[in-house]
Amino acid sequence: MSTRTQITDPGVPGRTVWVTGAAGLIGTELVRQAAASVPGWRVLGLTRADLDLTHSAAVTARFRSEPPDWILHCAGLTKSPQCQVEPELAWTLNVEVTRQLSELAASARLLFFSTDLVFDGRAGGYREADAVNPLNRYGETKAVAERVVLDGPRHLVVRTSLNYGSSRTGDRTFNEETVRLWRERRPMTLFTDEYRCPIPAVSTARAVWDLVTAVERGDARLPEPGADPTRRLFHVAGAEKLSRWELGRALAERWPELQPELRPGSLKDYVGGPRPADTSLVCDRVQAVLDWSLPRFSEWLRAQPREPEREGG
Ligand SMILES: NC(=O)c1ccc[n+]([C@@H]2O[C@H](COP(=O)([O-])OP(=O)(O)OC[C@H]3O[C@@H](n4cnc5c(N)ncnc54)[C@H](OP(=O)(O)O)[C@@H]3O)[C@@H](O)[C@H]2O)c1
Repeated sequence: MSTRTQITDPGVPGRTVWVTGAAGLIGTELVRQAAASVPGWRVLGLTRADLDLTHSAAVTARFRSEPPDWILHCAGLTKSPQCQVEPELAWTLNVEVTRQLSELAASARLLFFSTDLVFDGRAGGYREADAVNPLNRYGETKAVAERVVLDGPRHLVVRTSLNYGSSRTGDRTFNEETVRLWRERRPMTLFTDEYRCPIPAVSTARAVWDLVTAVERGDARLPEPGADPTRRLFHVAGAEKLSRWELGRALAERWPELQPELRPGSLKDYVGGPRPADTSLVCDRVQAVLDWSLPRFSEWLRAQPREPEREGG
């Protein structure tokens, strides 16, 4: 199938983009914003039903028939607990699938979504070049995949944190899961000493489109790639570091009618597997190419009109 592309501005010709994981939280948002962010580009949102990425022959065939200029690779095994119990599937989806896409797109560009959970959380305030040391299988597979991607000299990695939003299935995001537990009248213990930098998925997608178009324009604000592959790594997260407790309080304020029962707790008392305490991210590098500020999550949330139907209500 061929589509005539339009010229969007004199410096940026129309491009063909694949978005994998297009039924997922961030993939859905990327596809939704495409018309406004990259008008005239041909953006193919690929769901698992369109193309199962574990079928490598089908992936190669699709790549040859509709070669993209960019792959925004959102698909993966994205939940830590599932990666712990299905470590081989996590490896296949997060590493091997990424390797194949990365190699196929060697002369195009791939942007891979990674996670703050590549860090062990002992220090917090992580920058792109800081050493990774994942504590769980999800983080391990993402850390390996990052290296695979960055071996391709044109490819980029975006590490993001907890993304807020409404999934198509209504049960995938941390906010949907939290509201579900409150509806079931389940009390919740939240750690006052475990920190992330939550971000709305709408902002993650907006930042990624801005980054992609900045690369296409050869924006002088982007760091020179140079020899160091970590120059092609970008942290994209909220501008506010919040504990799980503070995050729970912010959500509870939004759902007063559920009368959520929150109890403060400490990571020190947690009896499960290892959990990183503070995976807050410094996002100066991506912020330098954005003409808007990455949001402070609690302020952003308070300013949002409530949409109970879409927020797990
Ligand atoms: N959301 C966050 O808080 C967060 C935080 C840090 C990093 N990230 C990373 O950002 C990326 C996007 O996250 P997300 O929250 O949008 O993830 P998500 O909602 O879980 O979406 C992942 C998508 O991958 C698809 N997928 C799984 N196996 C597939 C296969 N074999 N073939 C094709 N598609 C397949 C899933 O399809 P089905 O819908 O059919 O299952 C799903 O739609 C992920 O790589 C994730 O690790 C996300």
